[in-house]
Amino acid sequence: MAHEVDVLLHEKRIFDPDDETIERAHVDNWEAELKKGKDLEKYWAEKAEQFEWFQKWDKVLDDTNKPFYKWFVNGKINLAYNAVDRWIETPKRNQVAILYANERGDERKITYYELYRQVNKFANGLKNLGVKKGDRVSMYLPMCPELLISMLACTKIGAIHSVVYSGLSVGAFVERMNDARAKILITADGTFRRGKIIDLKKISDEALLQCHTVETVIVVNHTGNPIEISDLSGREIFYDRFIEGESDEFEAEEMDAEDPLFILYTSGSTGKPKGVLHTTAGYMVGIATTLRDIFDIHDDDLWWCTGDIGWITGHSYVIYAPLLNGTTTLVYEGAPDYPDPGAWWHMVERYGVTKFYTAPTAIRHLMRFGEKYPNIYNLSSLKILGTVGEPINPEAWMWYYKNVGKEKLPIMDTWWQTETGMHLISPLPTTPLKPGSVTKPIPGVEAEVVDEKGNSVPLGKGGFLVIKTPWPAMFRTLYEDEERFINVYWKDYPGFYKAGDMARKDKDGYLWIQGRSDDVLKIAGHRIGTSEVESAFVSHPAVAEAAVIGKSDPVKGQVIKAFLILKEGYQLKTQLIEDLKRHIRYELGPVAVLGELDQVESLPKTRSGKIMRRVLRAREAGEEVGDTSTLEE
Ligand code: WTA
Repeated sequence: MAHEVDVLLHEKRIFDPDDETIERAHVDNWEAELKKGKDLEKYWAEKAEQFEWFQKWDKVLDDTNKPFYKWFVNGKINLAYNAVDRWIETPKRNQVAILYANERGDERKITYYELYRQVNKFANGLKNLGVKKGDRVSMYLPMCPELLISMLACTKIGAIHSVVYSGLSVGAFVERMNDARAKILITADGTFRRGKIIDLKKISDEALLQCHTVETVIVVNHTGNPIEISDLSGREIFYDRFIEGESDEFEAEEMDAEDPLFILYTSGSTGKPKGVLHTTAGYMVGIATTLRDIFDIHDDDLWWCTGDIGWITGHSYVIYAPLLNGTTTLVYEGAPDYPDPGAWWHMVERYGVTKFYTAPTAIRHLMRFGEKYPNIYNLSSLKILGTVGEPINPEAWMWYYKNVGKEKLPIMDTWWQTETGMHLISPLPTTPLKPGSVTKPIPGVEAEVVDEKGNSVPLGKGGFLVIKTPWPAMFRTLYEDEERFINVYWKDYPGFYKAGDMARKDKDGYLWIQGRSDDVLKIAGHRIGTSEVESAFVSHPAVAEAAVIGKSDPVKGQVIKAFLILKEGYQLKTQLIEDLKRHIRYELGPVAVLGELDQVESLPKTRSGKIMRRVLRAREAGEEVGDTSTLEE
């Protein structure tokens, strides 16, 4: 690890923006914009002017009760209204809002006007079910238009959506649904994955056996997979039936700036997943601004973010920010290498994608197939590229820059989190770039690298990443768990937000992210907690105790390495290994990629019984174990 970082900091290459990029950019002077951002309230207030408010705010930022910040105090607004209805009276009315495509070559184009009608019908349906402001609605859906429609309908009513990523499986799904106490579940007959159909309804059915708050299940007929709707419970209905006969008019609910918008679960170092709660106005301002300024959105753009809507990247940058900017968002259901490793580049060519935003793991995966594929297709429509989710190694950056960007396009390496809601550290199109660096905090944001005591560390030295200033799209709490909210993020460095990442700053003030500082893994960019994986292992009858660490992987970044103490009479042989793999997949889904399983007799623990994963990690890496004074034996 340390060695790798040294290599990064010796990275000498700098890539300046080309004239065309500078000329076109909304923000043509990065340094000047950073200066403007120093007056934080003024900066964000100006950005908030772009929206239609039912009532303007009295105060931009209320920081009297830290860390419970409030933004746009007393403002009244509706996100869905601003993302959809607002465009109906403009020439964008008949522009495509959602361009859905999938691995089978199917496509659906939904204009802003059609989206408006669909959202209203669905909102009326929900209202007739008695769904009202503050109720929780869960979605377990693939990347399909109905997911966007149902999320927007919730937003229009003021119901809080809680999307569960469709790559998570029964155990993880149940935990999230029960924590949110969802009243409605929207799911589908399946999703297309590499030429097959994954039956999501079956997974939902199993999960629902353990979720007792759900009153109605709405099922989207998405793949044509023949499924049964149970009349027994009388609580299941097909999506088409559900909206049949509903009016296509619906008046948006006036939401307070600080009313909850959604809950999205993410993994932490300990215990159950955290329900990250985002609220209305600040979130809108933050995501719309960052998309517009970082990806330089114009009216003629075709935006493609490959992230799944089940994660924050999709919430902020597949649905909400693009629609708030009135752009066309490509929603693609399919893998980068199916039917062949040119699949994504084919999409870029076919639709003339102009801005492309993906994850380092996808790039590393595609790199393995060589330079051939991106060079088969005409990628000349592209103007700006982006990456998110984990550190991008300079080799992958250069490959992306050369083969996709044709040594011309800037790459926006955006650092942010489920909790931050919006990009916080990222270049703008006119920023000089260094491969592997996320450059500097965006205008209006200040970050620092500190030691355990909260003091800035010398340049080049590793430390903990903190954010020093509040930002509009910041999460407001963990759902029904304020104590954890404070303990995890705000206690160690009072006044600063603790990101949970390690970073270094170089002599130019550029930041280099090194990865998580806590027990959270990043597998193919997906966040998964070691404790979640450990609980899943222990729920198997053969496993007495489990400890999990990340093992580095050239494509996925990390995979799971598990140390298992088995119960009497069990041996880690082929059949049990297969069975454990199946079990983990059932509990957590395909996101939990198992690398290696080791059977051990004991695990390193502190005297108070906590597993010292640090010791396991060091041993795995062949490094010194360090301070073991708290080790039990
Ligand atoms: C990591 C994803 C390096 C980081 C939007 C963070 C990154 C975690 C970058 C949040 C980046 C995200 N460079 N690391 N550009 N972007 N990360 O909540 O470790 O799924 O803490 O949000 O991803 O993951 P999350």
